Amino acid sequence: MARSVNAPFMLVLFLVLSCSPFSVVYAIQMNMKSVYCTMSNNCDCDFNPDIKGLEWDLYKNLYGQHLAQEVVSEAVAGFLQMESPDRPLVLSFHGASGTGKTLVSSMVGRHLYGAAMGSPYIHQFIPTLHFPKADMAHQYKMELRRWVEGNLTACARSIFIFDEMENMPPGVIDVLVPFLGPDHVLFQTNYRKAMYIFMSTTGEEIINQLTLKTKLKGQDRDDIRLRDLEASLAQAVFNNPNSGFYQSQIIPAKLITFYVPFLPLSRHHVERCARRELCQRGACQRADVAEAVGRAVSYTVHDGQHFSSTGCKSVIAKVNLFL
Ligand SMILES: Nc1ncnc2c1ncn2[C@@H]1O[C@H](COP(=O)(O)OP(=O)(O)OP(=O)(O)O)[C@@H](O)[C@H]1O
Ligand SMILES: [Mg+2]
Repeated sequence: MARSVNAPFMLVLFLVLSCSPFSVVYAIQMNMKSVYCTMSNNCDCDFNPDIKGLEWDLYKNLYGQHLAQEVVSEAVAGFLQMESPDRPLVLSFHGASGTGKTLVSSMVGRHLYGAAMGSPYIHQFIPTLHFPKADMAHQYKMELRRWVEGNLTACARSIFIFDEMENMPPGVIDVLVPFLGPDHVLFQTNYRKAMYIFMSTTGEEIINQLTLKTKLKGQDRDDIRLRDLEASLAQAVFNNPNSGFYQSQIIPAKLITFYVPFLPLSRHHVERCARRELCQRGACQRADVAEAVGRAVSYTVHDGQHFSSTGCKSVIAKVNLFL
């Protein structure tokens, strides 16, 4: 009886306490998770993957990113097929601003937990918010380790998303080395079922250059293969002091499962983004607005080829302006 009266209360309390990664209530929160799990017998952490839905969403709603579509679909599907994976899935997204990195990470969240970033098992870190001071790297490392460890104990299928890796103080991310590798047994927990997504603009020049070269050769951008970019992206993040992975053990130890390049977007991609936005507002027929948005976005021009400087990022604001 007491069990059924208290369970909803515990759930509400648990959700309230889940709001901030490094709050003073950390220890309480971890205990509450265990209590909630025990009381509700609900320790599968609401994991409810819909791989077909993810594939469809990527195919239908992500424009101009054939590599991200292929790699993310296959990597996530392959990973989830394994009953006991021998290492976690670690994806590192790279590309210019506004090309779809955050969009894809939320698609993954939505199709694995049905709740985009709202799930208590999806943990998002933004360095300018959670790790703002380089001289506090030591403390951040301890906190991050505790946070990951505690959450993996509560839910082996946790997803950890690190946005803006270029703003991560150097060295902090290395605290994850033991969690990302295949060999260690840690904390009596199956930490190998976790998923990590890193996102940054580091390497965008390499990706943009190759896309430009491909276009100038008269080839289709879809001809670009992952192997054309993987090694140079690994090198770029390791050597760039502003990458968050600068000199990080994670790179030579090959703990990143896949580097996922996001290609620069052209005007027709921008117009597709505008058309989608218009359709969502019930104004599908306003081709004039989509065209005006395409015209108004700023482009970097190299050798006669145009790439949007902000990807699709400014599209919503421009649709507001022209509609
Ligand atoms: N390739 C794309 N296909 C469809 N929509 C896109 C694409 N890229 C970006 N968008 C749209 O543009 C907006 C910005 O995209 P998003 O936040 O994913 O960019 P980002 O790559 O994470 O940029 P940043 O590096 O600045 O964080 C979102 O509304 C998103 O839906
Ligand atoms: Mg983003």
